[in-house]
Order: sequence, then structure tokens, then C-alpha cells
Amino acid sequence: MEFKFDVSDIFPSGIVELNQSLVPPGFAGDRRGLTNVVTKVANVIDQMGDASATAQGLTRPITTADRLRKSDQNIYLLVDSTAKNGKGVVTGMLKTGKKSLYIFDRDGQHYHVSPPCVLDFYIHESKQRQGLGKQLFEHMLQKEQVVPSKLAIDRPSDKLLSFMSKHYGLQNAMRQMNNYVVFDGFFPEPANPDVITESSSPGHTKEKANGLQSFTNYGRYGAPRPPCSMGQIIHNQSPMQSNEPSGPQIASQ
Ligand code: ACO
Repeated sequence: MEFKFDVSDIFPSGIVELNQSLVPPGFAGDRRGLTNVVTKVANVIDQMGDASATAQGLTRPITTADRLRKSDQNIYLLVDSTAKNGKGVVTGMLKTGKKSLYIFDRDGQHYHVSPPCVLDFYIHESKQRQGLGKQLFEHMLQKEQVVPSKLAIDRPSDKLLSFMSKHYGLQNAMRQMNNYVVFDGFFPEPANPDVITESSSPGHTKEKANGLQSFTNYGRYGAPRPPCSMGQIIHNQSPMQSNEPSGPQIASQ
């Protein structure tokens, strides 16, 4: 992506890491220079956020400079400062951050975790499928010292799911009710849990990963339910004809 100003004036070539300060690494200058550079960085972030939203068919951008300023998230920009006769272009953006999430495994066990999350990821249309996304992602993994299976991904597109499958062998995504996705390997080994688990004791409600709530066969939820007399009146049934299910059942559908 091109900008009105020279990208090469504010960013070195390669991968540039930004945080809430919006100050590019290696910046040296006075207060006026700082204001100038931060304004340009904000412009780059806003335009990349807009382009990413358009590419994903979103009505509003996930990434803006304003939001970054108020967060503890990280943005990695892929910069080619030699392109456009040395004016430079920004080719890609990857935003990460930790989020407090409830995540369900395949058994419906839920976990309260704060994993590193992939929040926004975009490579310019003219440069996709050339390995640049992998380059940016690998840099992030190395920088954040995380393996792909331990990441949660916010509303991944089909392209990103394909990307995770191709480069990291991650398939069969577990979609969560909060729109995040995790993969097998996200959860701790049973012998060595390193996150707080909830609802692990018999008799407690377990929320299923697919959004259904089910109950274990213990306690009052396991007891048979009496026929619903109002339902019988509406359907003109005698108590013996009731179709109302009893005992353990799906609570919501
Ligand atoms: N259709 C299907 N799969 C794709 C496509 C596509 N158009 N583009 C990339 N991929 C996947 C494929 O697995 C592809 O491998 P293949 O070419 O052998 O099929 C692989 O990614 C290519 O890997 P890279 O070249 O390293 O990835 P790329 O530079 O294209 O970056 C990215 C991947 C960021 C997903 C890019 O395609 C993109 O910006 N897409 C549009 C925006 C988007 O969907 N972003 C993710 C939103 S979800 C989120 O941000 C949390």
C-alpha cells in the first residue's frame, strides 16, 4: 500500500513492530519530529486497518491507531522501503494481543484463559500467496515466543484457516461462541494443567463447545421432570399422553 508521504522516511525495510506509543523502533528526533512521525504512523495503521476490513468484508475496521493507543496490543508491519523508487510501501499487517476468554474444548470443558490472540492479519492483494504472510507470522511467533497451536484467532477468514492448515498443519478448528477459534493442542495436557479449569466437578453445568448447554446426570438436573400441565391443556392431552421429555435433557437449542 502506498501513502502520500514517503514510507521509507519513517520505517526501515523489513518487519516493523509498533505498540501503543506509535513510535517506530529506532526513531531519533526532536518533539516536532516525533509528532510528525506519530501522525504518519497513525495514518499507516488506519489505512491498513481499512484495507484489512475491506478484504474481510467487514463494515468497520478492527484496527485503528486510536484503538492501538488505548491497548497493550502489538502491530507488526511488513515494509518494503525500496519499492516505488525508494518511497516505500507497506505490504502487510498483523495485530496480536492477549484477551481474557472462556474457551471450550471438544468435551465441553471450559477454561478461563488469557492466550495470545491473532486479532487482525492482512497482506496486500497484489502480494498474497507469495509467502509474505508466513514471513510476518513467523516473525510474530518468534517475537512472542509462542507456538501456533497455543494461539486463539479472532473470527478467522477461510483464507486464514487455510493458511493455518497449510503452514502449521492446524485443522478442525474449534469455533467458540465468542467467535474465536482454537485448535487441538491449545488445551493443557490432562496430567499437567497450567490453566484454571471450571465446571470440572460432577453435577455442575457444562457448556458445550457448540453452544448447547447440557447437564451431567447428577443432582437435581438429573431428576425426572413432571409433565407440564399447561402444555397438556394447550395440546388437549391427558397426563399419560404427554410428549414432554423428562430426565436429563438439552437445556437450550
Ligand atoms: N484463498 C484461499 N487460501 C488462501 C488465499 C486465498 N485467496 N490466500 C492465501 N491463502 C492461504 C492458502 O493456504 C495459501 O496456500 P496456497 O497458495 O498453497 O493455497 C497460503 O495462505 C499462502 O500463504 P502465504 O503466502 O504465506 O499467505 P499470504 O501472504 O497470502 O497471507 C493472509 C495470508 C493474511 C490470510 C492473506 O491471504 C490475506 O490478507 N487475506 C485477506 C484478509 C484476510 O482474510 N485476513 C485474515 C482475516 S482473520 C484475522 O485477521 C484474525
